[in-house]
Amino acid sequence: MERLEERDYFTDYEILKDPYAFFEAARAHSPIYQPPNRDYLIVTGFEETLEVLKNNRDFSASIGLAGAAEPLPFEPHGPDITDQIEAHRGQILGGDYIVNLDDDAHTNLRSLVNRLFVPSRLKANERFMVEYSEELVRKAVANGGCELMREMAVPFVTMVIADLLGVPPEDRQLFMNTIVAAPPPGSLDSSENDYSGENHPMVVMGSYFVRYLHARLSDPRDDILTELAHSTFPNGEKPDVETIGSLAVFMFGAGQDTSAKILGSALRYIVDQPGLQDQLRNDTSLLPQLFEEVLRVQSSAKQTARVARRDTRVGDTDIPAGTRLLVAISAANRDPRRWENPQEFMLGRPKIVEHVGFGRGKHVCAGAPLARVEVRILLEKLLKYTSRIEIDDTRHGPPGARNFDYEPSFIIRGLNELHLKLTPSQAFSETQGAR
Ligand code: HEM
Repeated sequence: MERLEERDYFTDYEILKDPYAFFEAARAHSPIYQPPNRDYLIVTGFEETLEVLKNNRDFSASIGLAGAAEPLPFEPHGPDITDQIEAHRGQILGGDYIVNLDDDAHTNLRSLVNRLFVPSRLKANERFMVEYSEELVRKAVANGGCELMREMAVPFVTMVIADLLGVPPEDRQLFMNTIVAAPPPGSLDSSENDYSGENHPMVVMGSYFVRYLHARLSDPRDDILTELAHSTFPNGEKPDVETIGSLAVFMFGAGQDTSAKILGSALRYIVDQPGLQDQLRNDTSLLPQLFEEVLRVQSSAKQTARVARRDTRVGDTDIPAGTRLLVAISAANRDPRRWENPQEFMLGRPKIVEHVGFGRGKHVCAGAPLARVEVRILLEKLLKYTSRIEIDDTRHGPPGARNFDYEPSFIIRGLNELHLKLTPSQAFSETQGAR
């Protein structure tokens, strides 16, 4: 009979919906393991993951979105394939997106992203988060409950990015509809994983950004789109509007499913861990710790990928140029050599911020500060306006025998749906009449 670690991570529905046993089976062989009949390595070790993600000299991020199973569009030759990768980058899925770029091309785009996250911009964005979360949470509480993903998490994180990027209010609903229609990255349920296809929702949204940016070039305003349209790279060159447009669209892709799914996972623990919601209601300063621990134990970006561009070595494994690596973030975050009782959710876990849920090295998540704030704000509102949050047993089964449906994606980990019952708090009832 086929052993678990011999099954195909990228196409096996069961493994995609629940990857943990598969990664543990790989880990049982070694922290860097080549499954039989596969031409890529799986990295499950925490230290090994850090080594790979921090070594930008020897590893290229170019295959991050395509994934480790996808063959390179060329035959690698010699101990250094950097030039070959650059010559074929256009043939690699998403090869020009920031997360896949290497060296100066990456540094240039990252400098544009960093402009979005200056304190004044984040403050304005935070005001939007407070107002919009108030609206969404009050509506759900007034209705006695909600399906968290569709009615709260997805609209919230999508509109927060739209606000951050300066999408005009009149177009935000259109962005929302486009995003909702788009499958999560890496999903088996979709034939639309080719981000470069001209009908892909991401490409459609990109054309809107290009329009906004052209308009700001001829008619500057005091907004982030104007700043981006007139920006320059650190080397003095000016990015073209298509490049900025595609970066803006990538932000929706990168920050939408990841953040929405982490909200779903957080709520699952908040409701099912005995006493946790009351503990958090009494002390909301615990929310940042909760966020980090949820991200460790249910990493919403399950994995990324790298290709060795030079002959190199990780731990005691030799890795020739051209080798593709599946870097299993969610397995590194459960490595028993690094974490005590790694499968357990433990609020207050020592040195929790060292998890690799946001990656590490030069590609470390640019939106991490935003994700942390948006999740905290939404959870604060939910806890404030409820005296009790329950999982709807009629949809998910009773405690101890829950059934949850997870996204069948090789990239994203998270619930498809989470039906909640919400009991209003006194704070909700007192303020409801005044509105
Ligand atoms: C809980 C939510 C999130 C998680 C778990 C997450 C996870 C990650 C991970 C693991 C990476 C590194 C991938 C690699 O090294 O190959 C990454 C990169 C990135 N993320 Fe996030 N992300 C989240 C939210 C966001 C948000 C809200 C935004 C923006 C609005 C965002 C924007 C980006 C960008 C632009 C990159 C590429 C950075 C670079 O290549 O320099 N992410 N994210």
